[in-house]
Amino acid sequence: MQKLKAKELIIQRKLLGWYKKNKRNLPWRKLYKNQLPSPYFVLVSEYMLQQTTVGTVKKRFEEFVVKWPSINQLTNISESKILSFWSGLGYYSRAKNLLKAAKIIKKKFNNEIPCAYDNLIILPGIGDYTAKAILGIAYNKPVMPIDSNIERIIARIYGLQSPLMKIKKQLKDKSNLFISKKSSSNLIQAFMDYGSLVCTPRNPDCKSCLIKSKCVSNKKNLQNIIPVKIKSNIEKRRKYSRAYIIYNENNEILVRKRSSKGMLPSMLEIPNDNWVINKKKLVEDSIVKKVKKNIKFKGLIEYSFSHFNLETEVFFAYVKKNNFQKHKWIKKNNFKNSGLPTVMKKIIEIAI
Ligand code: ADE
Repeated sequence: MQKLKAKELIIQRKLLGWYKKNKRNLPWRKLYKNQLPSPYFVLVSEYMLQQTTVGTVKKRFEEFVVKWPSINQLTNISESKILSFWSGLGYYSRAKNLLKAAKIIKKKFNNEIPCAYDNLIILPGIGDYTAKAILGIAYNKPVMPIDSNIERIIARIYGLQSPLMKIKKQLKDKSNLFISKKSSSNLIQAFMDYGSLVCTPRNPDCKSCLIKSKCVSNKKNLQNIIPVKIKSNIEKRRKYSRAYIIYNENNEILVRKRSSKGMLPSMLEIPNDNWVINKKKLVEDSIVKKVKKNIKFKGLIEYSFSHFNLETEVFFAYVKKNNFQKHKWIKKNNFKNSGLPTVMKKIIEIAI
């Protein structure tokens, strides 16, 4: 009599079959002779994909590897170059860490992305998830990096009715049952894609799901309840600022460099008051004295960072370039490509 296959083995096989036909065409997935993607591409994409969606990363990844096609080329650039490139992706510490990691890889590993966990985990910006994603996707090592897609699929398959935060150990143990010795790279990416395209956070497509017969949530109709949400009553903190679009007769906008410490380090900015929690404690930036006469209020913008919202009153002042000779200017028509972080671009959009 034929031995019954374990549920996990059947799911593994079905997902691998599904992936062959339905995988997303992503630029870091191009396969080489060994049927695996470039480790450098996987490294860069994993840094970018921490906190940023696949949709946003796609285009930026392509731009990145055209500029810096190898670890060695990346190590030759300055921190401000990579920070300026990172504009729009947010979480700028990732950019700094990626550059630092590249320099370590050059020095310690002769420009080869490490293929051992202990050598990856020491690199800045690489935690357990990213180390396993690189090992699994780029080197086909038998590991399971557990991201929110995998957690959700596992919680649904086994009908786990607790908030994911509270069952991390159980999720890890169950996920590890799926580790593939032969097809780890494809299986990991199959889970990622299945979570994005079929077993989605809201309204999963259970009708067309290939593994629904193995899914407790499908049997018990729990797919819209799992993963169980924790009710949050924490409101994001709010900070306040005022920003000044200073504009000259050549259609240019005055910009300056932010401090190398704190939020958006060393990035360009338009002049703005220090961000404060108490609106009454706002202190006018020193540049305001020079433009006070012709300053006009243009509007209010709220921009959402991960840990707080920034409410900014936006002002506009028309000046003569001659009176601001030491300052840096960018062309109004080119402000979107000037390396300004997204919050500053949004502020400019309010005023012009
Ligand atoms: N999210 C994190 N890593 C990913 C990858 N390699 N492919 C798709 N989504 C991801």
